[in-house]
Amino acid sequence: MTRHAHRLIPWQRRTLYASGALLIATGVVWLAVHYSLGSGSGPDALPHPLEAWAMRLHGLAAYAGLFALGVIAAGHVPQGWRLSARHRWSHQRSSGLMLCSLGAAMALTGYLLYYFAPESIRPALGWAHASVGLITALLLLGHRRGA
Ligand code: HEM
Ligand code: HEM
Repeated sequence: MTRHAHRLIPWQRRTLYASGALLIATGVVWLAVHYSLGSGSGPDALPHPLEAWAMRLHGLAAYAGLFALGVIAAGHVPQGWRLSARHRWSHQRSSGLMLCSLGAAMALTGYLLYYFAPESIRPALGWAHASVGLITALLLLGHRRGA
């Protein structure tokens, strides 16, 4: 029996995984440092230098990640949509649609964190952004494995 597969072009898969891994690593480092040693550890606490470096790298990875999502939106999504009808991959359709929405949610909450978040809601927005990011990564693992 033929095993149908809908693979990503290797450089696109590598860009997606590398940017995703760097986003998670820098986000988790920021949370750990901010709330233990840095400006989130007490009312008079000062920012730790690692916080700024984690966010500089996080921003770099975010641009690369959005580029990867754009590439995937142009090729993989429409092709996968058509293929999944033919091969009854309904699991990939629903998880793929979720991945598209969560990708948009990450871009929107990231934008709000950078440009708008007032101090009163910033911590909650940061936690929400990071939690959705981790859920997106888990969903991607399930989507990838196939139905
Ligand atoms: C495409 C995906 C993502 C985009 C576009 C994105 C974008 C951003 C942006 C623009 C910021 C604000 C940077 C700043 O204030 O200097 C930010 C902060 C942050 N991101 Fe992401 N991010 C993404 C994925 C993730 C993931 C997967 C995690 C998982 C741990 C994460 C965790 C965080 C954390 C903890 C912060 C700091 C929150 C705060 O300031 O309270 N991000 N992100
Ligand atoms: C409605 C939208 C989407 C559809 C219909 C779809 C469909 C598919 C299908 C049919 C497969 C093949 C599974 C297999 O061979 O068992 C697949 C694999 C995959 N998809 Fe999607 N997908 C969608 C959106 C996305 C998005 C937004 C991402 C990235 C965030 C993504 C990342 C992947 C990855 C990494 C694989 C594994 C391919 C590889 O290892 O080369 N997909 N998708």
